[in-house]
Amino acid sequence: MSDTLRDVVREKYGEAAKRAIRGEKSSCCGSSANSSGCCGTSDSSCGDPITSNLYNEAEKGSLPENAVRASLGCGNPTALAELRPGETVLDLGSGGGIDVLLSARRVGPTGKAYGLDMTDEMLELARKNQSDAGVTNVEFLKGEIEAIPLPDASVDVIISNCVINLSGDKDRVLSEAFRVLKPGGRFAVSDVVVRGPVPEAIRKSLELWVGCVAGAMEETEYIGKLERTGFTAIGVEPTRVYDVSEAREFLSAQGIDADAAAQQVQGQFMSAFVRATRPK
Ligand SMILES: C[S@@+](CC[C@H](N)C(=O)[O-])C[C@H]1O[C@@H](n2cnc3c(N)ncnc32)[C@H](O)[C@@H]1O
Repeated sequence: MSDTLRDVVREKYGEAAKRAIRGEKSSCCGSSANSSGCCGTSDSSCGDPITSNLYNEAEKGSLPENAVRASLGCGNPTALAELRPGETVLDLGSGGGIDVLLSARRVGPTGKAYGLDMTDEMLELARKNQSDAGVTNVEFLKGEIEAIPLPDASVDVIISNCVINLSGDKDRVLSEAFRVLKPGGRFAVSDVVVRGPVPEAIRKSLELWVGCVAGAMEETEYIGKLERTGFTAIGVEPTRVYDVSEAREFLSAQGIDADAAAQQVQGQFMSAFVRATRPK
């Protein structure tokens, strides 16, 4: 992964974490992100089409307000991951920790939830949220998802929420995920996915709109990479298909004819739940 891309990602999320620590709305890409100016917040009132309304009231009610406000994902992987008591879960790019805290409750006191993030400010925010939540079966680790600081075959379930699309070396992320999973372990990830071919300029702009940094994989490319890594039982399930017209202002600012783009690529950009298994 290039140092430049890593530095850009770290800087964007460091700023987002600082805003969340100050009690402000989280945001990954600032006011130019979309028409509502609040890309990357889970506050449904701001109408963000990507991050709003991902968690139900019971989930939100079980967490400190700051942990919910700091959510920057594009799905709800723990809701779909079928976590069991006693299991060990690892969240790749755990941010403010919302999915780690939800996982910790699901695996119970005999289980454990790890969060892994490379951004110091995010780790500080996540540890504060953990302390406010009073959850003890959680550990936040500093590191990169391309070099996971855990031993081979030590994790039952890998979750992640809108992070793998940010990596410049997806093959390494997937092979690291495979390495740390126990045989029979599950990969259960929310990610931005593109379905079918899309003109390069539109693709880049829409990826920036959805994920703040271009890098989403095309669906068949994602499946191919998982297969080549050794995963089986692979599935890609769309959870939210984006309406390109919602990106109108963002696309126009990039010099792209939003109406033409909407007609060309409608239905192709989505958040999806990606599942796979490390065979026994
Ligand atoms: C879109 S936010 C998602 C945060 C969290 N999963 C959520 O749902 O709120 C991306 C997070 O991944 C972290 N991240 C991005 N690339 C990473 C990498 N290569 N290694 C470790 N962490 C990374 C960022 O620091 C940031 O906290």
